[in-house]
Amino acid sequence: KVLVLDFGAQYGQLIARRVRDLHVYSEIVAGDSPAADIEAMEPSALILSGGPASVYAEDAPEIDPAIFELGVPVLGFCYGHQIMASTLGGQVAHVEVGEYGPASIERERESRLLNATPLKQTVWMSHRDAVSSAPAGFTVTSSTEACPVASMEDHQRRLYSTQFHPEVRHTECGEQILSNFLFDICGLEPSWTMESIVEAKVAEIRERVGDARVILALSGGVDSSVVAALCARAIGPRLTCVFINHGLLRKNEPEQVEEIFSSQFDVDFVHVHAEERYAALLAGVVDPEEKRRIIGTQFWEEFFAVAQRTGGVRFLAQGTIYPDIIESGARKTGGRAATIKSHHNLIPFPEGVSFDLIEPLDHFFKDEVRELGLQLGLPGHIVYRQPFPGPGLAIRIIGAVDAEKLAILKDADAIVREELDAYNERLFRQTGERNSAHSCWQYFAVLPDIRSVGVMGDERTYGRPVILRAVESTDAMTADWARLPYDVLAHISSRIVAEVGGVNRVAYDITSKPPATIEWE
Ligand code: XMP
Repeated sequence: KVLVLDFGAQYGQLIARRVRDLHVYSEIVAGDSPAADIEAMEPSALILSGGPASVYAEDAPEIDPAIFELGVPVLGFCYGHQIMASTLGGQVAHVEVGEYGPASIERERESRLLNATPLKQTVWMSHRDAVSSAPAGFTVTSSTEACPVASMEDHQRRLYSTQFHPEVRHTECGEQILSNFLFDICGLEPSWTMESIVEAKVAEIRERVGDARVILALSGGVDSSVVAALCARAIGPRLTCVFINHGLLRKNEPEQVEEIFSSQFDVDFVHVHAEERYAALLAGVVDPEEKRRIIGTQFWEEFFAVAQRTGGVRFLAQGTIYPDIIESGARKTGGRAATIKSHHNLIPFPEGVSFDLIEPLDHFFKDEVRELGLQLGLPGHIVYRQPFPGPGLAIRIIGAVDAEKLAILKDADAIVREELDAYNERLFRQTGERNSAHSCWQYFAVLPDIRSVGVMGDERTYGRPVILRAVESTDAMTADWARLPYDVLAHISSRIVAEVGGVNRVAYDITSKPPATIEWE
């Protein structure tokens, strides 16, 4: 495997993604990891990421110099380039004018790293400091006007680095450069494919579980569904999938989940009909946080009741994914992503209950999880499902939840999804991209606790408005309202008013996040 030493949160992830895109397995570790820890992980290559700091800043992230003595090939980008230079005896200087954005490098001589790329090429730069003289043993292989050492290499020791960022798409030959390093220089094989991953994961789960039983809370979301499909392949009916139906899912969703997991996969599927219990608990509850608390607490009560009834369960499978671990690790340890396992503590285990955890997706990014899902035969509507909050429709009904409001919201939401699924599909056909710039990322209906006057036929109505929410986003941290074509909006509006009884008005939420949030509660 290739280890990415991360010197600044978001940089390492992108590099690991690019390496994986070339079918080589890559993991992220903290930039200041001791050489002994790195060696123990038996990497085939190391990549030093960029980072926001200056190597001369007081609290600049450091690198254990012994890392360069391990005999493992090292490639450094940006901060990684500078820290390699300064650690091995070169000079890094603060330059007057930094370079930000596209720059043109000129290759001066033969380079293993830049092999098969043009002598003059566009790269992506983002730096203030620059290496002013390369360490002994290194050859400078390219430069720009503002940057005398844009790349350097010591082929003897297999140390390579670039001031620019080959991992970003704006660097014309970034992929070629990374391939040169991984395949020609390190001699790695592009063998990390979805097929081989499924095989390895299935074998790993089988070996770990042995004859024991595994339980899983299946929500119907991508992550838990992929874990279920993987475990199903590994241990079949010794997997108990607990699907808790709180009555707050979208229209037809419980039926779809049941259909897939009870007929397509050979697992022990338990459909818990908890709709009435939830309805009773939520009656009259208006406060959003109180709704969340009730729904979350009841969820685990229902789940542990099944676990106890099932008996003999040794393992709990969970859909934790890599960003959960990287993020919780980074926050708790100031960047030492590799040392933290995960956020298990979120599950309120009852007194005396404990399970061993299985988290087969804990080293995968979201889109890799989707690919795994496809590989395992899950249908597109699960694999490409938009995010859906755990408390479900309860936090999209403003005010107290009741059966009538739920019915209205489910019907209106089904129309929104149908129309915007089709809209996204049209964009996908035009652009070839699943998440193109203008496709909607999350879209749904909200039912506010108000009424308004309307006129239908010759009758005055006093009905409910429905609010349409549709946003573009990549990670839910920030979002913008989708600039949907007027005819798409018009069609959604007329369908909702015509088809959903009790609704006489549709409004579109045109607020970004921040200042609003994606959900209304
Ligand atoms: P907000 O509304 O905070 O939502 O902009 C960001 C993303 O998180 C989802 N969301 C939740 N997911 N439990 C969840 O599992 C929750 O209580 C919850 N609240 C919001 C929301 O759908 C969006 O994708």
